[in-house]
Amino acid sequence: MTRAWPLLACVAACAGGELDPPREAAAPPPFSSPPVARDLEPRADVVKIALRAAPLDASGARLGYDGASPGPTVRARVGDQVEITLDNALASPTTLHLHGVHLPYEMDGDGHGAPPVAPGEAFTYRFVADRAGTFWYHPHVGAVEQVRGGLYGALVIDGPDDPRVDDVVLVFSEIPGDAVAPAPHPHATPQSLEHRRGQAWLVNGARSPQLALESGSTVRARIVNASSDSPLRFSWPGLRLIGTDQGLLHSPHEVDEVSLAPGDRVEAEWRIGAEPFDVVAWPESFFGPVEGDPVTVLSVASRGGRPAPAPLPWGAPPLAAVDRARTPDAIWVLTGAGPGSDTRINGERFPDVTPTPAARGRDLVLELRNLSSSRHPMHLHGHAFRVLSVDGQPPPFDSWEDTTELEPFSTRRVLVQPDLGGEWMAHCHLLTHVDGGMATILSVR
Ligand code: C2O
Ligand code: CU
Ligand code: CU
Repeated sequence: MTRAWPLLACVAACAGGELDPPREAAAPPPFSSPPVARDLEPRADVVKIALRAAPLDASGARLGYDGASPGPTVRARVGDQVEITLDNALASPTTLHLHGVHLPYEMDGDGHGAPPVAPGEAFTYRFVADRAGTFWYHPHVGAVEQVRGGLYGALVIDGPDDPRVDDVVLVFSEIPGDAVAPAPHPHATPQSLEHRRGQAWLVNGARSPQLALESGSTVRARIVNASSDSPLRFSWPGLRLIGTDQGLLHSPHEVDEVSLAPGDRVEAEWRIGAEPFDVVAWPESFFGPVEGDPVTVLSVASRGGRPAPAPLPWGAPPLAAVDRARTPDAIWVLTGAGPGSDTRINGERFPDVTPTPAARGRDLVLELRNLSSSRHPMHLHGHAFRVLSVDGQPPPFDSWEDTTELEPFSTRRVLVQPDLGGEWMAHCHLLTHVDGGMATILSVR
């Protein structure tokens, strides 16, 4: 989160400015969290939801669930039986992958454990919600086009002991299509062109929206990076993290900024005082931060003039003591640095990979070694993991994650507690890198 290495020198092709189209002097659009998906089942402990994936326009380039992008937020409580019926009204096969959710392998929607849903067909994904947190859903076949087209939404599971405060859901994505298409440049390389992505953020589909909150209140902000390829480096004054991928932290953590990789989530506490504040994002690339000015991605105003309340305790139970120096059971070497280059794990191209075996109920330490100049946000399906070390040092705080970003030429060791049988995918969450083959299998028996 705080970076020790220098900003990349910005090549001519990524000089800031020209990407941002001139802003009209129109009033900022209002912010709203995506609507909550309607629960079709009256029984209290069952949540039944129908989601229809369909084009949003005649060209078929913009896609959404139930007529919107992001789609409605799926909400359940720990202990609920959740059933989501996906109706495919797209022209191509799709799946619903429930990113970060602990569920039976056949319900993972990875496109392998259960066949993709053909156009005109439907499939019902069923699981019991057993971990509280902020998750998200997206297709897992044709993902570059489908996610970039707008198919994603948040999935929130409330825990029994969560403090009772209002929350807001912020699903970040990029302006689709031409607004981020790089202009041709004589010195452009695929890498410098990719630098230019991630500079035109949308929050819940709106550009730089404005939100007014009651002063004196506490709000839980649930933040998802649903971009296909761009890291979101953001901050606001007094940024206090209360949760990451797999729910609340043991104790809140104050940070200057957050670099949120595609697929990654954090939760933060907003204590609303009389002062308005802006959420700003810096230009960022998957090779590292790039030079340029921050842009305001969300403005938060306050009503009523009351002072900010005291921080809430939030804490989840502490994580168990762990042997950070334990010898890894397997090593995954990540190579390849960009679209058009061969992105691989252990030199293999998915799906032609050697699965890494794991036994249910037996802890497993994986060493992830990034031997490339690109970051790679590595994600494991169906399981949480704990980062044991980053280049041999303990991470700044302990947490359960399902996505963790490796800086260029860095190594992380993670602890997995495999408890669900299946051929679980693990991959970089830059979708162009998955397309290049950067995925493997953790085979849990
Ligand atoms: Cu968010 Cu394999 O996915
Ligand atoms: Cu996933
Ligand atoms: Cu990658």
